Amino acid sequence: MTAPLVEMRDMVKSFGGIKAVDHVTIDLYPGEVVGVLGHNGAGKSVLMKMLSGALQRDSGEIYINGEKATINNPRDARNYQIETIYQYLALADNLDAASNLFLGRELMSPTGFVNDAQMEAETRKILARLNPNFRRFHTPVAGLSGGQRQSVAIARAVYFNARILIMDEPTAALGVQETQMVAELIEQLKSEGIGIFLIDHDIHQVKMLCDRANVMKNGQLVGTVKVDEVSEDDMLGMIIAGKCPANAIPGPGALQTA
Ligand SMILES: Nc1ncnc2c1ncn2[C@@H]1O[C@H](COP(=O)(O)OP(=O)(O)O)[C@@H](O)[C@H]1O
Ligand SMILES: [Mg+2]
Repeated sequence: MTAPLVEMRDMVKSFGGIKAVDHVTIDLYPGEVVGVLGHNGAGKSVLMKMLSGALQRDSGEIYINGEKATINNPRDARNYQIETIYQYLALADNLDAASNLFLGRELMSPTGFVNDAQMEAETRKILARLNPNFRRFHTPVAGLSGGQRQSVAIARAVYFNARILIMDEPTAALGVQETQMVAELIEQLKSEGIGIFLIDHDIHQVKMLCDRANVMKNGQLVGTVKVDEVSEDDMLGMIIAGKCPANAIPGPGALQTA
């Protein structure tokens, strides 16, 4: 058995009196999509922000490929090839795909100028791999559909060698077809051995896209399941009542039944 790509162990984060994340342990293997589920305020985003370096943990440990990692800011996370995709399609609207892909990390020519031609060529190469139907290379991304915008955001992460991708409700702003496009991208990334944490509150989608799922409630881990081994109702019971089905691995937040 190889070491997990990511292991977050006993993670804790409080804001004032609120325990946003309360002793949560989860892991992720290469080529695996692992869901993070729970009501609003359950602690999903805070947990993932400790992995992406956007928030500093109070305590807990992060292991990457079995080795203890130091992640105190987004730059540290990037060094471990961790990238985040947000629901808000965080792109610069007035720039085209290539400019967005390389925003803040522009390719320079030896003479010190931004190398637009090379950036476009690289963008075409990576989008050909991820989304072969993408054609609108010279359009400001404001003019692209939600799915095309997510393709650009995902291409950006992949170009910079993400091995670990955090997707925080990546389809929340998308329609049905667009969501399907992102689902296909996730399958593609998976096949390339990238590990994905997927925050999503659509249980049906989690059943389709994820291998395993973690359910959080009030900052605690209710439990972890293999999605093929449980029903959508089982997952709903975990989210709403903290009730684990028999084949779940219960966490500290599981409802105690005597
Ligand atoms: N930056 C912050 N400052 C204070 N409280 C926060 C902050 N971020 C999140 N919280 C609180 O932490 C808890 C978990 O939030 P979050 O992880 O965003 O939930 P969700 O599961 O909906 O993603 C909530 O009670 C939220 O109000
Ligand atoms: Mg959230």
